[in-house]
Amino acid sequence: MCGIVGAVALRNIVPVLIEGLRRLEYRGYDSCGVAIVTAEGPQRVRSVARVAELDEQARETRFEGVTGIAHTRWATHGAPTVNNAHPIFSSNALAIVHNGIIENYESLREMLRGKGYEFVSQTDTEVIAHLIHSLYKGDLFAAVREAVQQLSGAYAIGVVHKDQPHTVVGARAGSPLVVGYGEGGNFIASDALAIAGSANRVSYLEEGDICEVTLEGVRIVDRAGNPAERPARDVQAYSGAVELGPYRHYMQKEIFEQPRAISDTIPADVAFDPVQFGENAGEVFKGIDSILILACGTSYYAGLTAKYWLESVAKIRTEVEIASEYRYRESVPNPRSLVVTISQSGETADTLAALKHAQSLGMEHTLAVCNVASSAMVRLTELKFLTHAGREIGVASTKAFTTQLVGLFILAVTLGKLRGHVNAQQEATYLKALRHLPAALNGVLALEPQIIAWSQEFARKENALFLGRGLHYPIALEGALKLKEISYIHAEAYPAGELKHGPLALVTEAMPVVTVAPNDALLEKLKSNMQEVRARGGHLYVFADADTHIASEEGIHVIRMPEHYGLLSPILHVVPLQLLAYHTACTRGTDVDKPRNLAKSVTVE
Ligand code: F6R
Repeated sequence: MCGIVGAVALRNIVPVLIEGLRRLEYRGYDSCGVAIVTAEGPQRVRSVARVAELDEQARETRFEGVTGIAHTRWATHGAPTVNNAHPIFSSNALAIVHNGIIENYESLREMLRGKGYEFVSQTDTEVIAHLIHSLYKGDLFAAVREAVQQLSGAYAIGVVHKDQPHTVVGARAGSPLVVGYGEGGNFIASDALAIAGSANRVSYLEEGDICEVTLEGVRIVDRAGNPAERPARDVQAYSGAVELGPYRHYMQKEIFEQPRAISDTIPADVAFDPVQFGENAGEVFKGIDSILILACGTSYYAGLTAKYWLESVAKIRTEVEIASEYRYRESVPNPRSLVVTISQSGETADTLAALKHAQSLGMEHTLAVCNVASSAMVRLTELKFLTHAGREIGVASTKAFTTQLVGLFILAVTLGKLRGHVNAQQEATYLKALRHLPAALNGVLALEPQIIAWSQEFARKENALFLGRGLHYPIALEGALKLKEISYIHAEAYPAGELKHGPLALVTEAMPVVTVAPNDALLEKLKSNMQEVRARGGHLYVFADADTHIASEEGIHVIRMPEHYGLLSPILHVVPLQLLAYHTACTRGTDVDKPRNLAKSVTVE
């Protein structure tokens, strides 16, 4: 989603700004731009193509400067056009880049129109530009401070003014912003990754902070205007672009990386010991009586799967809520609940807001299951479990999901052991199953050729149904989400028992019905549901366990999973669904790694 980079330096800073944008590209964007400060006013280059094209424009026009701001935009207010791309100007004096959404932009726009400002873009950002300009009396920092007090909504901004050619002012509320300290230059960015290398150390701004970045240093004040110290930490060196290797897309690479990612995520000394979640986790776990899971999208489906494990293995009551709903719902808080947030990026605006909402309701025990150690979410929670999926570039989450499941399973067994519901023999069985997962996954990945054959048929469809029961219902949901987001085929998932309560009306010969059929206690029920589909002419595509007795016949296509995997079976069963979505999308020729309208890190609500 949107990204910000800004710099004040002794040298030409444009290549550093563009490199920063390049590193943020994987998050998804639809336009980009850079502005530099000159005495005549800010100058900019913008593009609705890739950052590489912006770079070409900058090189061809010898676009250079020592102070600048840059942006990747994911359209919210206003279409993805050059005119709406940031940096946005006011009166040829000031330039701004903005992540987030301003909710009171309409009333501000009317007020500013009344003062004579003309609006030339459809963005909400332009109101911030004119507002700061209208308040500017020779001190950009003061003008930004006054302006942000009038904004409601979420923002991280970077602002420059022609009369202060060696200053960038930043501010944040609801969207992340860091300041970076380098040799011969200081920086702002929406993610430390963008400036790693140029800046050696960074400080994370807190809600309401405003910063002034100059060559001499960085000044930060809090919401109340008091000078604020934000701890500086070393930035991890940028590890470079992730190589595609022999794969066609990052998504394919990431699907095939899952055995490695899972093996890295299982701690070498895993003993289902609370200390793996934090030093005081044992104390916290002893004091809780329930769990509240908050997440979005695929991470939410990981939460739904975990509910089955937490309730069956740890016997602890578990609720799972979509973060964007929970944050605005009147709920009954339970201070003895452990709030678990699940997120690949750790920056998802809705999940962060839901977490803060739970904290504000007095739920102080929090745990993040997250893939990014330096993320806002990991910094906000009391306990953490880091997944070691490695950087996930494909917008559609794959290895992040399966590693989240591993973390959540370890949590369930750890709590189960602590609460006296897991004996030594069960513990040994769970441990063995976890350790064998990477090998079992390799067996599932070997099914790729059979799945490619199915994907040829799926690519011709416009609709698909996914069925699962119990522990595998969230896997059916995840399979449907993968198919719709990258192949643009409309897909819905149902617990198979629900079919007869409505969706069966959709079943005709044209409807492929993907069925997740592990050999578990619900298999016979599932088989009856499959007959209901066959009787209406629907075509079944079944992923059955090795020992499941379902034979291929007219209208029933079966791919057999290499082994039956008990409680951890969802981690195996999701993989063929990822592959089915991936190959169907490839056959349809979509932009698999950057599906239309989607962004990797959803930092606006
Ligand atoms: C789907 C997908 C999204 C994310 C969701 C939450 O493939 O990737 O649904 O799962 O946007 O993102 P995180 O996990 O970063 O909070």
